[in-house]
Amino acid sequence: MTKGEDIFRKIISHCKEYGFIFPSSEIYDGLSAVYDYGQNGAILKNNIKDYWWRSMVQYQENIVGIDSAIFMHPTVWKASGHVDAFNDPLIDNKDSKKRYRADVLIEDHLEKLNEKIEKDVVKAAKRFGDSFDEAMFRKTNPRVLENQEKIENINRRFVSALEENRLDDVKALIEELGIVCPISGSRNWTDVRQFNLMFSTQMGSLSEDTNQIFLRPETAQGIFVNYLNVQKTGRMKLPFGIAQIGKAFRNEIVARQFIFRMREFEQMEMQFFVKPGQEMEWYDYWKQERLRWHLALGIPAEKYRFHDHEKLAHYANAAADIEFEFPFGFKELEGIHSRTDFDLGAHQQYSGKKLQYFDPETNESYVPYVVETSIGLDRTFLAILSFAYREEKLEDGSERVVLSIPPVLAPIKVAVLPLVKKDGMPEKAREVFDRLKYDYMCQYDEKDAIGRRYRRQDAIGTPYCITVDHQTLEDNTVTIRERDSMKQDRIAIDEIAQVVARRIDIRPVS
Ligand code: GAP
Repeated sequence: MTKGEDIFRKIISHCKEYGFIFPSSEIYDGLSAVYDYGQNGAILKNNIKDYWWRSMVQYQENIVGIDSAIFMHPTVWKASGHVDAFNDPLIDNKDSKKRYRADVLIEDHLEKLNEKIEKDVVKAAKRFGDSFDEAMFRKTNPRVLENQEKIENINRRFVSALEENRLDDVKALIEELGIVCPISGSRNWTDVRQFNLMFSTQMGSLSEDTNQIFLRPETAQGIFVNYLNVQKTGRMKLPFGIAQIGKAFRNEIVARQFIFRMREFEQMEMQFFVKPGQEMEWYDYWKQERLRWHLALGIPAEKYRFHDHEKLAHYANAAADIEFEFPFGFKELEGIHSRTDFDLGAHQQYSGKKLQYFDPETNESYVPYVVETSIGLDRTFLAILSFAYREEKLEDGSERVVLSIPPVLAPIKVAVLPLVKKDGMPEKAREVFDRLKYDYMCQYDEKDAIGRRYRRQDAIGTPYCITVDHQTLEDNTVTIRERDSMKQDRIAIDEIAQVVARRIDIRPVS
């Protein structure tokens, strides 16, 4: 087991042990790639939503938020292209009987070639020391150039095969690259087939008038079909955005990696409507703006990187992912897409209703272009936990597991703990708890020795523990312990709310 796999396994069991995430319907042995959020997970998830909503809607004058229905008219998905093109190419290994996404197998192979290049660069940097010219090395080193050329050739062939739906060539490429099944180690592959990812159900009670409808695979279409409603009722002027948070459903072929790839998940999406021709400017703007949002949480910049798409979705003319370094490597966390006028144009055509903007500056009507930011709520949750989970050896030789969740997102902000369960301390601690609970999510805990109670709070990421001790009874002061440094200060009870507010505050990123 690699170090990353070991950490990932520990994070999954920590999530279960401390009430963050449970397998769905666990008493019936669970349901593949579906999860429930427990008492701490639900609050963390809400805090992430709140952080996103405030940054995208509350702090921006020209973005409004909506909440559209999961069920939509079936023609929506025809117009959006999802009925015809929302497919994953899948391939089975005949020996292990395991199913894979063909594009993921090839992308993993490309990543290995990339890693070889990076290793050569690191080695050379060590060998040449201060005189190392990295740019020159990448341009001239024969091994780097050879691997770079391989990557480009594979990419070219793979992208055109997928775009032109030549699935036999995708299979041929997998065979030629010698890609083996990670389970059986064999190259005994089936043909590649397309598989539509949308879940469907029936609406209506009588068989003769039932309609097949889909569970939305993205929240974005609820925004597109409401474009005119919002623009008119909100008297919005271009450029403006519509944001929403909601459930999405995809029948993922390869559902693994815990909450990274789920069949029911939540998205936080924003469609930014712009004048045609200005989309690339806004695309670059939103790429940087969204990265700033992530960095404002205090997670180090090296945990994030951009990945520009070679193969574009059917609606996009430019697309990039913000990738995060999960324990299993850098993977997509958020997508920023320039979606052109594809969606509004298609809905206009299929519905027969004009979805245009009258530009008072030019006296023209046109279909706006759209730049989208789309982030998975569950993936953000996993990214935060992957960053936050730490096993530490303390000075006294003991160990602790701490979740260094950014304080603004932590499920419980303050734990109130009487030092001992006597001498009036529990009563005083309850008084403190009752004062703080209107401002913050607090927990009162009097069971076990104080050290064990601190450990319990560390394990759920509580940034501040307030301890009521003998001195409290004399002078109305308490200790406030900070989770990461474990440093304790003494402050007046009257100051607690203010001190905590100061420490959990992060200024808006806009
Ligand atoms: N509206 C555009 C769209 O849906 P996407 O790249 O397919 O684009 C956007 O999805 C984000 O949704 C991803 O970056 C990811 O964070 C999240 N996401 C997609 N599929 C997911 C899944 N099966 N489980 C969890 N999150 C998922």
